Amino acid sequence: MFPIYRARRIRQDGIREILEDSLVEVKKLMLPIFVMPGSDKVEEISSMPGVYRYTTDKVLTFVEDAVKSGIKSIIFFGISDVKDPIGSWASNSEGEVQKAIRLVKKEFPELLVAADTCLCEYTDHGHCGIVRDGEILNDETLEVLNDVAISYVESGADIIAPSGMMDGMVSSIRDALDSKEFYNTIIMSYSVKYSSCFYGPFRDAAQSAPKFGNRKTHQMSPFFGYNEAIKESLIDVEECADILMVKPGLSYLDVLKTVKNSVLLPVAVYNVSGEYSMVKAAGINGWIDEMNTVSEIFYAFERAGADIIISYHSLDYAKWLAENNK
Ligand code: PBG
Repeated sequence: MFPIYRARRIRQDGIREILEDSLVEVKKLMLPIFVMPGSDKVEEISSMPGVYRYTTDKVLTFVEDAVKSGIKSIIFFGISDVKDPIGSWASNSEGEVQKAIRLVKKEFPELLVAADTCLCEYTDHGHCGIVRDGEILNDETLEVLNDVAISYVESGADIIAPSGMMDGMVSSIRDALDSKEFYNTIIMSYSVKYSSCFYGPFRDAAQSAPKFGNRKTHQMSPFFGYNEAIKESLIDVEECADILMVKPGLSYLDVLKTVKNSVLLPVAVYNVSGEYSMVKAAGINGWIDEMNTVSEIFYAFERAGADIIISYHSLDYAKWLAENNK
């Protein structure tokens, strides 16, 4: 075990206390979990060593471990083998995500459960919306997303996290939820989402790579300046989002800080799959000390203004902190 770098002080009663300029607390972390069809299976994602896909019957054991390690919130991603042009399986109450939410909320009502709300895992073409003549139909897609959001909340989700970057997505989902009297459901919007190379391993994990074209029409160019980021954030504020998000994290710390300074809402950062896999690969090879690197990265997110950190490293980090705190 590598030493952990942090300042401590001894309180008068002899208890060691971590100084303020120290590590990010586990309660700030959100853990992504992939659920897949079938039963009795846990598969490692080859491009993300240490991250697994679970069938719904296997999710609970994993979540239990996470809860015991201090994890307070999770976000579900569904993987589907039922795919059609409009992603209709996404809103089915017997879907993998819906089942997983019900199981987990029953067992751990205190755990905050978010659901990534997008169609790309459910469409046969792999795009985040309904496509006609090579173009994504924004408003038709919103209708479908509303149904998906409602079905997740009916299953018990606390947070809806729309990630497709359709125009008007937040207000449309807000209205749909309110019409069902789900006034307290939180919407965490993927407000500032770049069309990034860092999602490569995720698309492998979720089998959601587009079959043709790309996501550049609705995701933001990494080569835009701040204006676009602030504009997208303010639109989501206007549409009544509860939490904004910047994604990816590491190459966009400056954007995170700028967004945080431009709004009053909490801001989440998504430490995405490619960022995870780089650190993990270097760690496995012994080129870097994985957990100290993760703690440095998390601290950078916090310093840049993140209120919530969504990361595949969350559980390892929580365990590592607990071990080092003994
Ligand atoms: C879309 C979605 C993606 C990610 C989260 N939600 C993929 C994409 O936009 O292509 C990426 C997350 C990651 O890379 O860890 N449903």
